[in-house]
Amino acid sequence: MKIEVRADKPYTVTVERGALARAGELLRPLKKPGTRVMLISDSNVEPLYGSTLRSSLESAGFQVSGFTFPAGEENKQIATVCDMYKALSEGGFTRTDLIVTLGGGVTGDMGGFAAATFLRGMDFVQAPTTVVSQADASVGGKTGVDLPFGKNLVGAFHQPIAVITDPDTLDTLPRHYFNDGLGEVIKHGAIADRELFESFEREPGLAVADMEQVMGRSVSIKRDFVEADTKDTGRRMILNFGHTCGHALEKLNGFKNLSHGEAVGIGMVLACKAGEKLGVTEPGTGERIARVLEQNGMPTEPGFTVEEIVKATALDKKSDGDTLRFILIPKIGESMIYPMTRGELLEALS
Ligand SMILES: NC(=O)c1ccc[n+]([C@@H]2O[C@H](COP(=O)([O-])OP(=O)(O)OC[C@H]3O[C@@H](n4cnc5c(N)ncnc54)[C@H](O)[C@@H]3O)[C@@H](O)[C@H]2O)c1
Ligand SMILES: [Zn+2]
Repeated sequence: MKIEVRADKPYTVTVERGALARAGELLRPLKKPGTRVMLISDSNVEPLYGSTLRSSLESAGFQVSGFTFPAGEENKQIATVCDMYKALSEGGFTRTDLIVTLGGGVTGDMGGFAAATFLRGMDFVQAPTTVVSQADASVGGKTGVDLPFGKNLVGAFHQPIAVITDPDTLDTLPRHYFNDGLGEVIKHGAIADRELFESFEREPGLAVADMEQVMGRSVSIKRDFVEADTKDTGRRMILNFGHTCGHALEKLNGFKNLSHGEAVGIGMVLACKAGEKLGVTEPGTGERIARVLEQNGMPTEPGFTVEEIVKATALDKKSDGDTLRFILIPKIGESMIYPMTRGELLEALS
């Protein structure tokens, strides 16, 4: 499946089984033979898929060097990006050369940030290998790193020139990370694609073989919302469905035990509970989402009182006063922004 993304410079997301081995062929129309490529990956992913990608790029005439950093969110920091700058400088990279990121969201965000900033910006290509990065992070152009006092605090918008998504790589992804991404995929179905959501209801426990379809549709939905709004203001807010309570739960759990996607899953169930009470959401919708989460081994119970959760909700950057830009779904596949105060949310959840 090919998905066209209209950004400042349009690009194609190719979602195909075996796409990594065809990367060279896919990039040949975009970059001249002899272009230097810095293949950025982490210590888990490089040994699994690095050589497939590298030999495909080399066969297409690219000159490939590698930079591999120790896997993990704790390494998504400026110091690692500085090491990338060093490798790029030592390799004699210029603005017309290319960075290719192979890995999850950490690799894509950080390698993309190096590409956004080295020599004031060079081209990059993402080859995402987790559900989070394939279904979500590889579209939208957000790149960046964490600071010791907060996640994603430094970054830039920088669009890739292509995204090469090989769903076969998900075969080796540990279950914990798989589920983390599934939360966002189920969310994409809930806000905009009833059929995608219902495919989860029909087939509890997805096989990797189904992933081409699932990742492709998920990318299309993210693309539609992001295109409507490239700088993260209006329409894109809908993607925050489940995130107001989800972020609160992550905070209450001290960012341990519960992954982001699991927290978003519970957040969606809570949002539907509130929507159903307000008469906005079709009755039974929260129950349907909870069932799909359960079938995939994901939690559905918050483990905190509604008072605790509402107290922990953060106001988003664009809210005024005490008003949350809450997202509700009237029914599976439809969504809306529904501003309400914390008091109103508490009442709707009680
Ligand atoms: N840019 C965006 O729009 C956006 C959106 C969502 C999340 N993110 C960012 O993405 C990050 C989380 O993404 P993630 O979960 O992909 O993190 P990650 O890159 O750390 O990958 C998770 C783990 O899985 C391993 N791994 C990756 N692919 C594998 C594979 N195919 N087989 C075996 N192991 C594999 C990694 O080495 C790592 O240990 C966060 O930093 C988050 O801020 C960015
Ligand atoms: Zn999210």
